[in-house]
Amino acid sequence: MNFDELVLARQSVRRYDNHEVESEKIIQCLEAARWSPSASNSQPWHFIVVDQEPLRTEVAKATFTEIQLINKFTLQAPVLIVIVQQKPKLITRLAMQVKKKEWPLIDIGIAAAHFCLKATELRLGTCMIGWFNENRIKEILKIPADKNIGLLISLGYVPKDYRLRKKTRRQLSAISSYNKYAD
Ligand SMILES: Cc1cc2nc3c(=O)[nH]c(=O)nc-3n(C[C@H](O)[C@H](O)[C@H](O)COP(=O)(O)O)c2cc1C
Repeated sequence: MNFDELVLARQSVRRYDNHEVESEKIIQCLEAARWSPSASNSQPWHFIVVDQEPLRTEVAKATFTEIQLINKFTLQAPVLIVIVQQKPKLITRLAMQVKKKEWPLIDIGIAAAHFCLKATELRLGTCMIGWFNENRIKEILKIPADKNIGLLISLGYVPKDYRLRKKTRRQLSAISSYNKYAD
């Protein structure tokens, strides 16, 4: 797949078959994330690969409730990646204070995009998950209380009958302009 094909082929996959994901493939996705850019090259992330029972099921259960069922599909995902936000370098922290910006979550988002695009190239499916019970996952995975979880990613093989959905995105003209702001 060339880059444009890859971008269009990546979609949020919310159904998985029960094939185990080879550890080399998980490593390739992590490597793609590792090479992503970050503010001052701070790399404020730690990736926890959750692929063992009962931890995997416990983490999956912390992404939905009886009322909010949207993430129930995570129970099927053979691998869940939990991205823990790490403290950026001192220089980045100072710059963030001066500029009143929060860069670590941006960095994590970029790393997650690298991860998901690599997975797509390997014919694996992913879904980024922002809705989860953070305290519960911290408890399950023994993440220190003072750390935050930025994002989860589900990972697994895509069922044969899973189709590429038609993407819906706003038009380029509605989201971009040249040389001045235009709403
Ligand atoms: C930060 C972030 C959080 C997300 N959280 C969830 C989530 O909790 N559950 C879910 O099913 N999808 C989640 N998504 C997936 C989006 O719904 C999806 O990317 C969007 O609808 C576009 O569809 P596509 O990924 O298939 O192109 C999240 C995506 C991002 C970037």
